[in-house]
This record gives sequence, structure tokens and C-alpha cells, in this order.
Amino acid sequence: MELPPRPTLFDFHGVSMSKYFTDNWDNVQNFQARPDDVLIATYPKAGTTWVSYILDLLYFGQTCPERQASVPLQQRVPFLDISLPSLPTGTDLAEQLSTTPRLIKTHLPVQFVPKSFWEQSSRIVYVARNAKDNAVSFYHFSRMNRAAPEPGDWNTYLRNFMDGKGAFRAQHYSNGAHWSKHLLVHISVVFGSWYDHVNGWWQKKQTYSNIHYMFYEDLIEDCGREIDRLCSFLGLSPTLEEKNRVMTDVKFDNMRQDQMISFTTVKYMDQSISPFLRRGKVGDWKNHFTVAQNEEFDEDYKQKMKNSSLTLRTEL
Ligand code: A3P
Repeated sequence: MELPPRPTLFDFHGVSMSKYFTDNWDNVQNFQARPDDVLIATYPKAGTTWVSYILDLLYFGQTCPERQASVPLQQRVPFLDISLPSLPTGTDLAEQLSTTPRLIKTHLPVQFVPKSFWEQSSRIVYVARNAKDNAVSFYHFSRMNRAAPEPGDWNTYLRNFMDGKGAFRAQHYSNGAHWSKHLLVHISVVFGSWYDHVNGWWQKKQTYSNIHYMFYEDLIEDCGREIDRLCSFLGLSPTLEEKNRVMTDVKFDNMRQDQMISFTTVKYMDQSISPFLRRGKVGDWKNHFTVAQNEEFDEDYKQKMKNSSLTLRTEL
């Protein structure tokens, strides 16, 4: 498969998006949700894969164990919004699902979610992760993922993450022999502002009762408790043995070794640059933020979140 070129970003109804998430827009918007669908919604790198796998095992771990060994997670839980050259679109994969319920993931901000999910009162699981770890994880993911816009260096990336919008910036580039010239590249974060995303979904939860809003940090703290909360939201009652099996399978190291989970078959991700399942920790931001970056980030965060009742933990 020919690797897709890195996309640029553009303003799409007020959100920075790339063509890989807007090319199939009409089909995404007209997607027909069903009442028993479960939508897993996140800002990228908040723990989508972890929660997708937990739900997949809770629903199908007992009844279809062969799926676990033969079908990659990205086909079991299709990514609704995506449309990459020479690959089936997310809507095609979702429509081909033969399971009940269908588990579907999205990174769309709440205002872009296809209206049929609201009309059908489908259940939605939203996962949020603290902004600092989310930014670090998204930065490393963007370095290794050719379907993501060019991330630039960490400092530039962090500024764009805080900004939430695209910007043209001058960057050094290598001509093979030496680092000399300047090139204008478009750097930013796709799916827009983290602040708008987590707050938009948090507000929606106040009026739409079928959203279970959960946190990556809570999962790290007590995965069993979070599975219990998920089960109570979804009306599932696994036996203790089933629950324990899910808890074992979804441990970071076990997921990392499972080729059906760790995206190793996805050609546009170069995991030698950074693995998909990278650190899996709360607080890795401390290995990336300088003292000055942290102070500036905290100040800006206070402003952006001043009207929000959301509390996210940056350490445990
Ligand atoms: P890091 O880059 O900080 O390691 P998403 O699935 O939304 O793309 O999120 C990926 C992030 O979730 C990565 O974070 C990944 O390591 C982390 N993750 C995935 N499975 C995990 C698990 N079982 N335990 C802890 N973290 C996990």
C-alpha cells in the first residue's frame, strides 16, 4: 500500500480538520445509528483503544472468542470518521458489522456527531484524559502516524495544542547534508481544541442521559471499578470470572503484545518511531514539559476552563 501524504489542516465549521476526516462527510452525517449501537467517543489519545477493547470483550469475549484472535480491533470497532486512500471508509466498516450491538468509535466533537445517534438514543461512552498527558500522547502519535498532520517539534506542538487551531510556522529542514533552509509547514492538531472537545461533550451529558462520561485516570487508578460502572451503564452483568478475564486481557502489557490490538498491521503507522501503546501512564507529561511550559500551560488552562465544572487529574 502506498503511504498517504501527511495532510494539512483547514478550518471546517470552526474546527481544524484534515481531509481524512472530512472526505466522507456526507456518509458520516447520514450514518444510520441503531438504538442498541454503542458509540465510543474521545479526543484522540484519551484511551479510545483501551475502552474499545474492554467493551469488545464484555460483549463478545465469551460468545465469539475466535474474533479476538483473528479480527483486528480496528475492524471490530470501526472508526466512523476516517477515510484514507485505498482503505475502506469507517462508515463502510461500521455498516458491514454483523454484531449486536455494533461498537463504533469516533473522535468527532459533539456538534459533528451524526444526528441519528441522538434520534435513536444510542448509548455513548465518552473518555476524557487530562490535557497534559493527552497532548504528550498525541504529539508522539502524530510523529509516527503519517495520516496525522506534521507535528513539528514538541514546543511548537504544545503551542498548537493550546491554541487548538492551525498555524503556519517556519521550520528548519534537512536537505540531506545539513540543516539550513526554512520551509513553511502547516502544523496543528486535528479534531480541534481539546478544551472545546471535553467541555462540549461534558455539556451534552447534562441534557442527554445516555452518555457515560469517564476518565483515563480513573481507569488507571481502578480498572475493576470502572468496568463495574460501564457494566451498570450498559446493563451488563458479567460473572466475576468473566470480569477478571477482561481485566487481565486489557492490562497494558497484554494489549501491547497482542497484534490484533496494537495496530502493528497498519502500514501508515511507523511504530519504530513511537509505539502505538507507548507508556500508558498518568503523569508522563512531567518528562516532557519544561518548568516554563508548565507554568504557561497552567495559566492558559485556568482561563480556558474557568467556566467548566470538569476536573481532570494530572497525577494520581
Ligand atoms: P500513551 O501515548 O500515553 O502511552 P487512544 O487509544 O485514544 O489512541 O489512546 C492511546 C493512549 O492510551 C496511549 O497513551 C496508550 O498507551 C494508552 N493506552 C492504551 N491501552 C492502555 C492500557 N491498557 N493501559 C494504559 N494505557 C493504555
